[in-house]
Amino acid sequence: MHAKWVGRCESCGAWNSLVEEAPREAVPKGLGGGKSGPGGKARPIDVVALRGVSAMPPRRTSGIAEFDRVCGGGLVAGSALLVGGDPGIGKSTLLLQVVAALATRSAKAGETLGCLYISGEEAIDQVRMRAERLAVSGAPVELATATSIRDIAATLDREDRPQIVVIDSIQTMYLDTLDSAPGTVSQVRAAAQELIRLAKRRGFTVILVGHVTKEGVIAGPRVLEHMVDTVLYFEGERGHQFRILRAVKNRFGATDEIGVFEMTDAGLTEVPNPSALFLAERSQDVSGAAIFAGMEGTRPVLVEIQALVAPSPPGTPRRAVVGWDGNRLAMIMAVLDARCGLAIGANDIYLNVAGGLRIGEPAADLAVAAALVSALTEQPVPPECVVFGEIGLSGEIRAVSQSDARLKEAGKLGFTSALIPPRRGKGGKPPREGGIAVTEIAHLRDLVARFMEGAAAKGLQRREPARR
Ligand code: TYD
Ligand code: MG
Repeated sequence: MHAKWVGRCESCGAWNSLVEEAPREAVPKGLGGGKSGPGGKARPIDVVALRGVSAMPPRRTSGIAEFDRVCGGGLVAGSALLVGGDPGIGKSTLLLQVVAALATRSAKAGETLGCLYISGEEAIDQVRMRAERLAVSGAPVELATATSIRDIAATLDREDRPQIVVIDSIQTMYLDTLDSAPGTVSQVRAAAQELIRLAKRRGFTVILVGHVTKEGVIAGPRVLEHMVDTVLYFEGERGHQFRILRAVKNRFGATDEIGVFEMTDAGLTEVPNPSALFLAERSQDVSGAAIFAGMEGTRPVLVEIQALVAPSPPGTPRRAVVGWDGNRLAMIMAVLDARCGLAIGANDIYLNVAGGLRIGEPAADLAVAAALVSALTEQPVPPECVVFGEIGLSGEIRAVSQSDARLKEAGKLGFTSALIPPRRGKGGKPPREGGIAVTEIAHLRDLVARFMEGAAAKGLQRREPARR
């Protein structure tokens, strides 16, 4: 609590990180009477389960498989979802398609699922035009434009309420009981709280859209993450047509699941086999590229990692990384230098994950190293070869999870060999798995040596590791 404007946070020292929040009265003015719902009283846990709230709640699927899977198998009644993402990434497009698919599906099944799409950003004509462009204007979805939570609550707090409600976006909504402007922390939080409480009480699913803004991260979806049941982020590189829907929190399913979409003229289309797509433009037999066999949630995804190593003009060498962690790149370069005697640090380094995917897995370390060493030595990675493994600071290659699933996906896509970490307890196993010739790499030095053999002929210099 600060009585006046403060530029610097006293506890962490960060500048301009404090946001103003008007104090609320001790008991916030609610929108309705104090009717307590059935959730108020404590009950023994087995009785709760008997009332139908089981560990595996029933789900409503949209038929858009990439969306359903990320939600953990469909939408749960009475739950709240947050779909966050940069402005313009396609959140409105995705959710309009999802509600349309849900409504159409249930209509076909002979039931009426009330689906309501509330826009606080666009005029009703705009939403309608978008629906036409997406070829979903025939779906039994109700559209509304509203920004007052009081009005919205009046519509939703009824017997004939819809079962699926999209709020686009939570930053445009406001409660007239608060003084602050829409989009501020207190408004965003209070509006979401009201909607979520209503959803739980009335048993409908509420999907909140939240913009992630560069400077306004604090007032953005972050403050809502702990309030909702499921948090999905919709991401992608601008200029790339791929969009990735990622679950970062899910009370009803696994996180780290991704759904891959492609933005087209007619909206978002599903990409059921992302590996094939990410590898479609791969150029074979060039140096500086390695195929990483990664995992995104439960699904293996193969993606190309490209590196460019160029002699640097005097001064600080350039480092540019797209789709991966820059600190992790620095670490791998340090290990290459200190443990393998590869003088790479004086060069300009560019690293790119093809297709606009963002990789967070340390399992990509070995593939990044392979791309770097391949670029430096001008020796291509063996054709049809996938790479994965984590690199430790002493240069050892560490095992990663789900190596069987990774190899299986690689085999399915026609890869024939793999560079992987040593496998424990598989000593007697033949070095072939599912048609893939497996080479275990115990130390980063061994990887470098493979490229050096070819490069030696070209007269590339290698210096002895520094003794430290
Ligand atoms: P939008 O869903 O409005 O983004 P958000 O709600 O996250 O702000 O998507 C906007 C972008 O998507 C816009 O730049 C145009 C593009 N787009 C297409 O390429 N094809 C389409 O069919 C639609 C509807 C949008
Ligand atoms: Mg929008």
